[in-house]
Amino acid sequence: MTAPVVELRGIGRTYEGPPEVVALRPCDLVIARGERVSVVGPSGSGKSTWLNLVGLLDRPTTGDYLLDGVNTAELPDSARTELRSRRIGFVFQSFHLLAHRSAVENVMLGLLYQGGKRAHRRSTAMAVLDRVGLTACAESAAGVLSGGERQRVAIARALVAEPSLLLCDEPTGNLDSGSAERVLDLIDGVHRDGQTVVIVTHDEHVAAAAPRRVVIRDGLVCG
Ligand SMILES: Nc1ncnc2c1ncn2[C@@H]1O[C@H](COP(=O)(O)OP(=O)(O)OP(=O)(O)O)[C@@H](O)[C@H]1O
Ligand SMILES: [Mg+2]
Repeated sequence: MTAPVVELRGIGRTYEGPPEVVALRPCDLVIARGERVSVVGPSGSGKSTWLNLVGLLDRPTTGDYLLDGVNTAELPDSARTELRSRRIGFVFQSFHLLAHRSAVENVMLGLLYQGGKRAHRRSTAMAVLDRVGLTACAESAAGVLSGGERQRVAIARALVAEPSLLLCDEPTGNLDSGSAERVLDLIDGVHRDGQTVVIVTHDEHVAAAAPRRVVIRDGLVCG
């Protein structure tokens, strides 16, 4: 049997302060391969804290986190960075693209850890841009694209290295409703193709699209 993508064993995070803040109380949670999960909760409940731990952007103050069965608690920072680059694709509310680089160059950045020939990285990036419906925009600077197009480029960049986990933080937060719908359809499609997806969101419509919901309240994770 293969290991779950995410296995949290009693992980918690306290910010030292002062004042000390218990942002996440120790929690156990398993996310299996191919699941789609939404993470919801009121402002200040601990969603970003949780996302930063699961995304290997921060270390827990207690507990163990296994990503694809690898215990990340035991790894030095360099190995955690490599694991993050290879196994986690991030999509943020504000896209985080390089505005003066073309769409395809932005997607190629997702392959930096893979190395290999530039021509090969370029053709891989073009294939993923095609999957998100943006072949025609490949050579356009990211800065001239619409919000919805930018987010689809960001999704292509997140997927190009074939991560174990697609981790989205309010992916539709900066989009008009039409573009948001298109981005959600795209996420739907990659999930149907087998991608494990976690979406942190305030938006009930976005949350409702996922079959499983994790609720965080006052640092307590349920679900
Ligand atoms: N670096 C930090 N140092 C100290 N306290 C922090 C830090 N980051 C977050 N906190 C506190 O931890 C708690 C959880 O914050 P967190 O940012 O995880 O909430 P959130 O659910 O993401 O909120 P929002 O929906 O507003 O983004 C809050 O009380 C917050 O003030
Ligand atoms: Mg937050």
